[in-house]
Amino acid sequence: MKNSVTLTDNRNGNSYEFPILNGTMGPDVIDISTFFTQTGMFTFDRGYTSTAMCRSSITYIDGLKGELMHRGYDIAYLAENKTYLDVAYLLLNKELPSKEQFLEFKSELKKRSYIHEGMMKIFDAFPSGAHPMAVLQASVSALSAFYSDHLNMNKPEEYKEMAMRIIAKIPTLAAFSYRHKKGYPIIYPNLDRGFTENFLYMLRAYPYEHVDLKPVEIKALDTVFMLHADHEQNASTTTVRTVGSTHAHPYACIAAGIGALWGHAHGGANEGVIRQLEAIGTVDNVDKIIARAKDKNDPFRLMGFGHRVYKNFDPRAKVLKSMCYQLLDEIGINSELIKIANRIEEIVLNDEYFISRNLYPNVDFYSGLILKALGIPNDMFAVIFVIGRTPGWISQWIELKEQDTIKIVRPRQLYVGHTNRTPK
Ligand code: CMC
Repeated sequence: MKNSVTLTDNRNGNSYEFPILNGTMGPDVIDISTFFTQTGMFTFDRGYTSTAMCRSSITYIDGLKGELMHRGYDIAYLAENKTYLDVAYLLLNKELPSKEQFLEFKSELKKRSYIHEGMMKIFDAFPSGAHPMAVLQASVSALSAFYSDHLNMNKPEEYKEMAMRIIAKIPTLAAFSYRHKKGYPIIYPNLDRGFTENFLYMLRAYPYEHVDLKPVEIKALDTVFMLHADHEQNASTTTVRTVGSTHAHPYACIAAGIGALWGHAHGGANEGVIRQLEAIGTVDNVDKIIARAKDKNDPFRLMGFGHRVYKNFDPRAKVLKSMCYQLLDEIGINSELIKIANRIEEIVLNDEYFISRNLYPNVDFYSGLILKALGIPNDMFAVIFVIGRTPGWISQWIELKEQDTIKIVRPRQLYVGHTNRTPK
């Protein structure tokens, strides 16, 4: 049997053959790279819902089974047994670190967590009401001006150095963007603390004051970072790869990824969950909201439910759900917001409308609740997502660079505008 498909044009009976490519897991892929030269036509796939845009060995998702794996390791195993930095190392280096490798990785990141003092002037120039994502995106872009040795890289050692630098500095830039917005004194990284603990410290601390960071809070934030570390070819990762395909430097690519992630259909969704729960206000209003979500004539959607790829329980949501309840138990929060969230979840998991459409809680439903319980303001939620996703973006950028040839991403279009117009 030939490993190919044949396409027949019913208008003229012409047949064209395309090879089928087989991955190690997941659906087979029809290679249509010769489609235009063979047929003179383009393919049309709005939103790339049926298009594999690259070969990758980093992350695998099975949306029907609700599976997510990084480099072959199931996310539930990683969340149970490893930290965010283990997963960052795994994404970058293809293997989990040994104890020694982990300690070295952690210490190398710490060394790079400070930023050039000249960048402080950039923070000062922003208006105080600036959204932390705006400041973060601009400051990541500015890294290219302060660390210009990475603008033209060709060697794997240089990629590694660049990766460490970006992963280490983004939490610092993120914390500075928050403190700048609030007008709080800037808190520099504390090298005695772990990666996630240091970030929470930079958000919460005041000079000369003791800051109380509970282990369960650090663990919860670390889990949020880990569960966002990579998610295959989502919109921001595709943006990073697209910009990278022009041979742009990684700072430009990551800044572009941050822009893509900011949208409410992507990294902005967890903020949407909390805003919606706050707008519902009380458990007594939940039934009305559920009725709105089910009403065909109402465009209203229940935030934090449903997913384009997962038609089963989002595996990240499973992990975060138990982390969320552990955090709430230990820090003793039982707000109206949590009661509303519990009630919504209970109804959705038992209601025919949601069951028949495979609408399960997604990662954003629980990550929003965790971040809220940690006292992180709503407009920092997408920033937290950026910190988590950075190792994924960089690993995907490196994978792109390590290919034999890089093909610039340059799709075509179905033109529906004017035909040749005669000037009057
Ligand atoms: N509330 C109520 N109904 C819904 C919802 C929802 N949250 N999501 C989907 N539906 C219904 C939809 O109305 C449609 O019903 P019908 O078949 O009767 O027309 C059916 O379910 C299928 O919806 P769809 O829009 O075709 O599904 P999609 O796969 O294109 O959309 C989604 C996925 C995530 C955009 C959507 O579920 C949604 O808008 N959810 C709420 C927003 C949200 O939580 N987004 C975060 C997603 S996770 C982000 C990440 O992984 O980065």
